[in-house]
Amino acid sequence: MDRIRIVGGNRLNGIIPISGAKNAALPLMIASLLTDGTLTLENLPRLADVSLLVRILGNHGVDYTIEGKRAGDSLETGQTVHLAARQIVDTTAPYDLVSRMRASFWVLAPLVARMGVAKVSLPGGCAIGTRPVDLLIMAMERLGAQIDIENGYAVARAPKGLKGAEIAFPKVTVGGTHTALMAASLANGTTVIHNAAREPEIVDLAECLGKMGARIRGAGTSVIEIDGVPRLGGARHAVLPDRIETGTYAMAVAMTGGDVLLQGARADLLEAALETVRQTGASVTETNEGLRVYRNGAGIAPVDVTTAPFPGFPTDLQAQLMALVTRAEGTSRITETIFENRFMHVSELSRFGAHIRLDGDSAIIEGVKTLKGAPVMATDLRASVSLVIAALAAEGETMVNRVYHLDRGFERLESKLSRCGAEIERIVAAG
Ligand code: UD1
Repeated sequence: MDRIRIVGGNRLNGIIPISGAKNAALPLMIASLLTDGTLTLENLPRLADVSLLVRILGNHGVDYTIEGKRAGDSLETGQTVHLAARQIVDTTAPYDLVSRMRASFWVLAPLVARMGVAKVSLPGGCAIGTRPVDLLIMAMERLGAQIDIENGYAVARAPKGLKGAEIAFPKVTVGGTHTALMAASLANGTTVIHNAAREPEIVDLAECLGKMGARIRGAGTSVIEIDGVPRLGGARHAVLPDRIETGTYAMAVAMTGGDVLLQGARADLLEAALETVRQTGASVTETNEGLRVYRNGAGIAPVDVTTAPFPGFPTDLQAQLMALVTRAEGTSRITETIFENRFMHVSELSRFGAHIRLDGDSAIIEGVKTLKGAPVMATDLRASVSLVIAALAAEGETMVNRVYHLDRGFERLESKLSRCGAEIERIVAAG
């Protein structure tokens, strides 16, 4: 297994290009199942999760082609790909694939909407909690699908098609909202989603579905209305920039000090997180090219932050923020409200000498002057990048093990950071 070696202490200076958002790319790719036309996605990030989803979609009959290199292209520009589900040849998503990436459960919605049947493995738990899919199933049932749980699979049937309905989510769910949007787009009649997720990735999916012919109003607010249409066509759509990657590098710069342009980043996608980065003492300004993050000299100020659905502070940046405030001049509190078990990084951060104590769903972080490099282990995607942030500021060498978690969601992390002056390298496992 690959490892990442980091020697801390260098400031970050330069340009970091921000990739297309993983969490937008996945539902957009899944939406290709809704049509026999070609969905062309621009700015698709090169990530392990994207490659895995290509395999999953390929099993259902989706052809995938990557557009050849164009003038001016480089590794910094995302890929343009074509996804074409001319014919759905298999409506089953098997356990060995779904269990590796939870979001693949979302294929249930387009498969039932288009084919009237789908059999999708239940994803199971993961490192950050039990992560049930009951609300996704509820949404599909509201739309008229009959769902049975058989041998670990959700088997959905709607032989006469789906019907528009009122769907009221008792809790904000991104996956539930994506699922409902995709299914309702091909349902007969009007659907109203109450308490919908307002995340930018929902808006991105709704915009793409709109280009495919769906009639959607209100995406980005908590009430979304969809007038179902009998069929959707192909479209061309560019994946929005990754707000979690943006926030991660902003926190890395706030941690090490320095001056970095996050090229292509959009402030409107993460206002709450940027405000927190400013509170820690860094300056964040918008430029024509993206966001400039700058911190020089001043210490890191402590924060009191609670994660919340968008537009609140994202749970996917909670671990990174915790790494940052391990070196704050004072005590911080970070409260996690989205996932019950999302503190796996606490014990790993403690290995750097951080002082963190858990109090129910809060972590209390007493800032220390110095962190010391250590061998650590990545436990999930966002937790693993928090270890990288800590390592960038720690004295001496850190070895991050199990970096496949990082490869799921961060494109060329070590090259982006080393080009800004970090001492970071991947040690590729032999064999
Ligand atoms: C998505 C993101 C993930 C992010 C999360 C919250 C993708 C691929 N993943 O995950 O990075 O951390 O949003 O912003 O976009 N819940 C239920 N029942 C359900 C579904 C969810 O109880 O059927 C609960 C979850 O356990 C959690 C909360 O609802 O407590 C929010 O989860 P949800 O927004 O659905 O997360 P995902 O869509 O899985």
